[in-house]
Parts: sequence; structure tokens; C-alpha cells
Amino acid sequence: MTQPMHTIGHDMSSGQKWTLLIIDDDEPTREVLAQSIESLGDFRVYQAANGLDGLAQFQKIGNVDGVLVDINMPGMNGIEFISRIKELDNSVVAIVITGFPSMDVIIEAMRAGATDFLCKPFKFDQLRFAMERLARERRILLNNQLLSQEVLAKKALEELNQKLEKKIKEQTVLFTISDTLSRIKNTQELYQQLVTLAATLTETSDAKFWVVNYDTRTLMLTAALNSFHECEREISLDRKDLPPVQVVCDGIPILVDGSCGPGHHLLVPIFIRNEVFGVLAVSSPIRDQSFEEGIFLLHLLAEKASLTIENLLLYESVIQNLHATLKALVRSLEAKDPYTKEHSHRVTQVAVSIATIMECNPEELDSLRFAGPLHDIGKIGISDQILMKPGKLTKDEYEIIKSHPVIGAEIVGHLGLLPVEKAIIRHHHERWDGKGYPDGLKQEEIPLLSRILAVADTFDAMTSCRPYRKALSIQEAEQEIKRNAGSQFDPVVVEAFDKYLAISDHQ
Ligand SMILES: [Fe+2]
Repeated sequence: MTQPMHTIGHDMSSGQKWTLLIIDDDEPTREVLAQSIESLGDFRVYQAANGLDGLAQFQKIGNVDGVLVDINMPGMNGIEFISRIKELDNSVVAIVITGFPSMDVIIEAMRAGATDFLCKPFKFDQLRFAMERLARERRILLNNQLLSQEVLAKKALEELNQKLEKKIKEQTVLFTISDTLSRIKNTQELYQQLVTLAATLTETSDAKFWVVNYDTRTLMLTAALNSFHECEREISLDRKDLPPVQVVCDGIPILVDGSCGPGHHLLVPIFIRNEVFGVLAVSSPIRDQSFEEGIFLLHLLAEKASLTIENLLLYESVIQNLHATLKALVRSLEAKDPYTKEHSHRVTQVAVSIATIMECNPEELDSLRFAGPLHDIGKIGISDQILMKPGKLTKDEYEIIKSHPVIGAEIVGHLGLLPVEKAIIRHHHERWDGKGYPDGLKQEEIPLLSRILAVADTFDAMTSCRPYRKALSIQEAEQEIKRNAGSQFDPVVVEAFDKYLAISDHQ
């Protein structure tokens, strides 16, 4: 094999050759071409006698770099052949072989995808240049293909990134919603958070929430961020021309322009058990992409909120019932003993005042307000004879009386009160020196709220009339409590109690 006069070179690796396919029905022409091109050293040459065979070989060889094709052949002509292989591989280089080049043929071949011409009879130099051009062209086409693949990949990556960003945003939103909703303790707070979240999610500053009242057939505005019109406070369900009413009637979100005030409005229903419970609305002076995306985000919010509202409503009704039940229990207990009338209520008030002075947190104050009136609820388990005995109690009777904190804590425990509330009741007769009951806890072992309640309880008992003794004056009671600071009572609580007396109207 002769050395190539000029190295055309394959760009992939030096050992690799360009693959060429010659299609011509004239065998001598094919042979001359094949031998001449192979002598260049950089080409592996295949031959076919007609278009159909050429096509079959083209597919069988795979990765053909270039084709040299005769125009006039029986069956499939050169132009058609070029069109067909270009459909298979757009980066293949097609060179037309022709004896009589006419302008029409040239234009037609170029339209089909040919890029060069070889005129019979061939001159070796011409052939060599044509092969150099072919190699150059193929290299460019391959690079282009790679580039366009890269562009496609980049585009696909961008799309993927956008999807991912959307997903992350969605997850973040969901987390924010869940996180915010999980901290909410009552429905009013929820409605306020709902409008705040809605405005944040849609990047608007105006948001409103109405709750449907099916009894009065009205929509009541329960929360609003920024200003609202007075006429929006209460909307009749008969006003079917108004967007919030339409949302209630149709149960689907709507996007409206201008009809309910200037700007654009997005309204979504919030369902509870398949019934529209409320309407959440946001307004924006401009309708941009974030506002459009808001439909989706508000939908997420509405879904999450509906579950929270349902739970809160249920919880609130249970708590209301519980309060009513417990109040009735306390009343029935106090009704038995006129001396203890309003005792629980007063003890709670004093205890909450002391706790406030001691800077207890809002949750602790709530627990005290809730459990305070119930501190002696355990006495309902003790017989009236012992409970209302005018004279001195026997040792056994006193032991029975001493069981009331335990019975009380048990009762409220079954009713779903918090452990901290249960503890207030159980330990309200413990003493700072450890000599109290039922557990003989001492000092900081006793829950703070119980230590506070103990002072308030004793103070109220001492200043109330009892069958066996007269009421002490405020000053006498105060002195007695101060005297017992460090033995019966926590000195810090007594100090706060002293401050309370100084600022209260007891003096
Ligand atoms: Fe008690």
C-alpha cells in the first residue's frame, strides 16, 4: 500500500480512517475512484452499483462519513439517494459524480443536501482536494452535531432545573405552611395567619378571608391584611354578582379583573367536609407571573388550611364542652358548701396575678387559668359528711380529705387536660419543707404553678369565713403567709405575693 501524498487525517484518532461509500452503476468508474481514493491512505472505501444497494450498505456499514454518488442511475437516482441518506444521518457529506453538469442538476442536488461535485473524467489532484474538503466538511458537521446535542442537553438541563426549582419552591411553601399552621392555637389566629401566608405566597400585600355562615346566609370577613371596604365586612350570599359569593356557589377558584375594586383578584374556596367553609382572596395591582403562579400556591395553602381549621374547630368545640362540664362540676361542688362559694375563682385570680408578677410565660398563665378553678375538684369524690363537718376532723377523716388532689388530678387527666395542668392540681397541697401531701415533694421539686396556687389558696381560705373560725383580715393573712415563707411556702412566691397585695385593691 502506498503512502498518502497528503494526510487528510481523521479527527477522532490517527489510526482511524474516513469511511466512504461510492454508488455508481458503471463498474470501471467505481473501481478507478475507489483505488485512487484508497491510495490517499485516509479512507476505507465501499462500493455499490445502485441506489437501493447503496442504501442497504449505508445502513449496514454504519457511521459512513461521506458518499460519492452518480446522478444518473437506473432505479433510484443520485438525488433521491442523497435525500434518503440525509434523512438517516444529516452529518454525512454527499458528493455528486456527474459527466454533464447542468445548473438544474446542481441546484437540485444541493437542495437534496449535496455539497460538492466531481466531474468525469477525474483528475487525481481534483479528487484529492475533493476528499480534503469532504473530511473538513464532515468534521464541521460532526462538531455541529455535537454542539447541537450539547445545546439540547443544556436546554433539557435548564428545563430540569426549572422543574426542580418549582418542586423545591413547592416543598418550601408546603413546609412553611405546615410549620406555620402547626403553631396555631385557635381559629382567629389561623385566619390571620392565612391572609399573611396568602399574601406572602403570591407576593401581594392585600389579602382577605371570609367565613361562610349558612344560617344567616352571609360571608363574614374574619381577617384582612391591609385595608378593606366597609361593604366587604358582611356579604349576603344572595349577591351572586360578587366574586366571593360566586366562589361559595361554584366551589372553584376564580381570577377576576377590576370587578371588585381596582386591580386583579384571585379567590379560592376552603372546604371542610365537602362544603365551602370560607373564601381566601388576594389582590394585586399588577398581574405578573408570581400572581399567576399564586393560583397553584393558594390551592396548596387552602388544602392544608382546611385540615387545620377542621381540627381547630373540633378542638375548640371539645374544649368549650370541657370547660362547660368542668365549670358545672366546680359549681356543684361549691353549691354544697356556701363557705367555699367563688373560692376557686378568687384563688385562680390571685394565682394568675402572682404568676404574672413572676413573669411566667403565656402558656403557663393559660394552664393556671384553666386548672386553677379545678384545684379542689377532687373533693366531689369525698362524702358530704366529712367535707362539711363543722367540728374537728378525725385522723382518718383528714386522710380522706388529703386524697382530693390525687382524685382531682385523676379526673382532669381523663378529661384530656395537659400534664402540667394535672400537676398543678395534684401538688397544690405540697409544702416547701417537704411536709405536704400527697407526694411530700420539697422546694423546686414542687411545680412552680402549684407553689403559686398554694399561696393563693391559703390566702383565700384564711380571708374567708369558715364554720369553725372567723375570717382573718388581709393584713393578718399576709403576716401569716410571710411567717410561713421558707417552711410551708416558697419564699420567692411569697415575695411576689407581697408585691401583688401592694398593688391590688385588697389593702
Ligand atoms: Fe385543696
